[in-house]
Amino acid sequence: MRILRRFTLALALAGAVALPMTADNAKAAGEAKPPVDHSWSFEGVFGRYDRAQLQRGFRVYKEVCASCHGMELVAFRNLAEPGGPGFTEDQVKVIAADFLVTDGPNEDGDMFEREGTPADRFPPPFPNENAARAANGGAYPPDFSVLAKARPQGPDYLASLLKGYVDPPEGEEGLPGQYYNLYFPGHWFAMAPPLFDEMVEYTDGTPMTVEQYAEDVTAFMMWAAEPKLEERKRMGFQVMIFLLVLAIMMYFTKRKIWSNIEH
Ligand code: HEC
Repeated sequence: MRILRRFTLALALAGAVALPMTADNAKAAGEAKPPVDHSWSFEGVFGRYDRAQLQRGFRVYKEVCASCHGMELVAFRNLAEPGGPGFTEDQVKVIAADFLVTDGPNEDGDMFEREGTPADRFPPPFPNENAARAANGGAYPPDFSVLAKARPQGPDYLASLLKGYVDPPEGEEGLPGQYYNLYFPGHWFAMAPPLFDEMVEYTDGTPMTVEQYAEDVTAFMMWAAEPKLEERKRMGFQVMIFLLVLAIMMYFTKRKIWSNIEH
């Protein structure tokens, strides 16, 4: 009992010390605004991706982000797999052929470039990290394969960030190549605002706005990071049903077994 009391006391003390510390750190880093809570089709027990949204998000990725951000764990053929954007196999061939991938070495020992095929992964936009930094004023554009799951409140944060560029408060100035963003930790972000209204052509009547692009590309990044989300949720639901049925059966079995015993 005494040990328990001491333990609780220690916990309370640790909490009292840790809380103001985290608040201070946040302030020192320029306190980013908490991400806006969006409602995503893939949230909740029955969450599913919106195929049309994933297809639009893919276009935004390809036409805007892919020149700086890679997606090295995703292969073109994944775009046609169940639970994803639902492109057809033929569409995927066309998409892949639009990218140049490095292959080789050939008989002479040289690497060469060729059109992508569905089996290839998305080729990295830069040959290595140093080249990426050199082209981006020293900052490194992270790979998108798992980014949506690597950030706290992933999709809400990403969508907020992409919509979160504003003029800096009076008197505050960043370094050259830094942009003020409400949601980036420390506010000064080394990525120029990538999205502008009307920059990616949507043919289905969806508004061509920064807000819409931001949400579509975020949904696409979420799929890239968790391509099996739908399968996982379906499985989870089936397991729940199974456990429920099992529990009911156990209950009646128990009643049956004990019914002949006096008590
Ligand atoms: C011209 C190159 C360029 C383009 C185009 C670009 N980015 Fe970036 N991006 C960067 C760089 C550089 C960084 C690293 C910035 C930093 O660390 O301050 C970055 C960082 C990010 C981050 C990481 C934020 C974090 O929490 O660390 C996200 C998310 C992101 N970009 C999303 C996008 C999306 C979505 C697009 C397309 C709509 C895009 N970027 C287009 C260069 C680019």
